[in-house]
Amino acid sequence: MIETENKKKVFIETYGCQMNFSDSEIIGSILMEHNYISTDDMKSADLILMNTCSIRDNAEQRVRNRLQELHALKKRKSSLVIGLLGCMAERLKEKLLEEEKHIDLIVGPDGYRSLPALLEQVESGQKAVNTLLSAEETYADITPVRLGSNGVNAFISIMRGCENFCAYCVVPYTRGKERSRNPKTIIEEAASLFDQGYREVTLLGQNVNSYQWEDNGLPIEFPALLEDVAKVNPLLRVRFATSHPKDLSDDLLDVIATYPNICHAIHLPVQSGSNEILKKMNRSYTREWYLDRVAAIKKHLPDCAISTDIIAGFCSETEDDHKDTLSMMEIVGYDYAFMFKYSERPNTIAAKKYSDDVSEEDKSRRLDEIISMQQKLSLASNKKDIGKVFEVLVEGVSKRSDTQLYGRNSQNKVVVFPRSSHKPGDYVRVLVEDCTPATLRGVEVK
Ligand code: 5AD
Ligand code: SF4
Repeated sequence: MIETENKKKVFIETYGCQMNFSDSEIIGSILMEHNYISTDDMKSADLILMNTCSIRDNAEQRVRNRLQELHALKKRKSSLVIGLLGCMAERLKEKLLEEEKHIDLIVGPDGYRSLPALLEQVESGQKAVNTLLSAEETYADITPVRLGSNGVNAFISIMRGCENFCAYCVVPYTRGKERSRNPKTIIEEAASLFDQGYREVTLLGQNVNSYQWEDNGLPIEFPALLEDVAKVNPLLRVRFATSHPKDLSDDLLDVIATYPNICHAIHLPVQSGSNEILKKMNRSYTREWYLDRVAAIKKHLPDCAISTDIIAGFCSETEDDHKDTLSMMEIVGYDYAFMFKYSERPNTIAAKKYSDDVSEEDKSRRLDEIISMQQKLSLASNKKDIGKVFEVLVEGVSKRSDTQLYGRNSQNKVVVFPRSSHKPGDYVRVLVEDCTPATLRGVEVK
């Protein structure tokens, strides 16, 4: 039996990307080793940690609003400790303590090992801050606790940081230098997850293709790592995110084509379809280069889904640039996209060099046009799947109807089908009969 009586309760709330969710699991693990247990009930928590995101202004505003609510909670319960972690902590550092007086603790993405010591400092009545970035920290030896897990899918962080310095992006400043994690620990983590019943792992990094390790003088790059993880077990599906188009290699596509358990879904953020804008964004590829990589994907993996990220209204973007983005979307035929309005972030290259000169109205309209285009493309992509049979990894009972199960196919599309005795983690062959822009519907076939 686990002794819980003397343990303190921590509630961790995560904002932002998958990397942040993965970090929250590392944070959870560090705290579980130090007399904390995790709780889903914020009101009963002794410690509330917000793992935050700075990527766009509205991501930060959401955290600021939540802090107001926590302030009210703390007024009623003065022993409550509130910590702000992650990218916003790194970006704003001590300034946050002045702006948000009820915060006790500020810790950046490379400081989580110091959490127990910092919490002791808070207990002794002081505020505590650690926003040092590290060139080495990968948390390689820490086995994450799986927070809010369905027992089927898990994230494995394989590298941290980013040195691409895209002009709009805050990440190189909040997450520091690129560093890769020892491959042995990655493979052990994948094998251990499989033994616990997990059937899908997603290898995470800001730019997974930059993964780089040296073993006795021999370099290990991402394709080799991916191959080793795929070999853990043929029943363990492997995904990865995110890839930078500049170094999506044919070697990588060969590895994906060789192992049936490596999923046929590549997330390849394009950001813009205009060469002028791509140059200003410092993306280091052209529209033609990107399309060449898409052609390579389609040649090696004809059934591969391609998804993307797009920013509407970057500095100086004209109507023609915007049309280039729409035409790019149509040529590639994206299966899925994350779409955003440009949001200027302080101290980035764009904030220093360019003027945020596209009006709010134009940004909104362009974003709407991009979203409509993607709706059309997603529906077309799903319609093409009608009549096909996919192997679906069951994740659970559909949230909309308890008579249906849902899971995903290799292309990362959600597939819904009538409930049977299958459990999460089972593989089921499903014939697709119908679709919406977001979901495939089908029936089980033997
Ligand atoms: N404004 C809008 N979107 C941004 N992204 C990154 N920085 C910004 C910004 N300043 C988007 C990019 C990136 C995704 C994670 O968020 O599309 O790929
Ligand atoms: Fe993730 Fe970027 Fe947000 Fe940080 S700023 S949490 S790296 S999306």
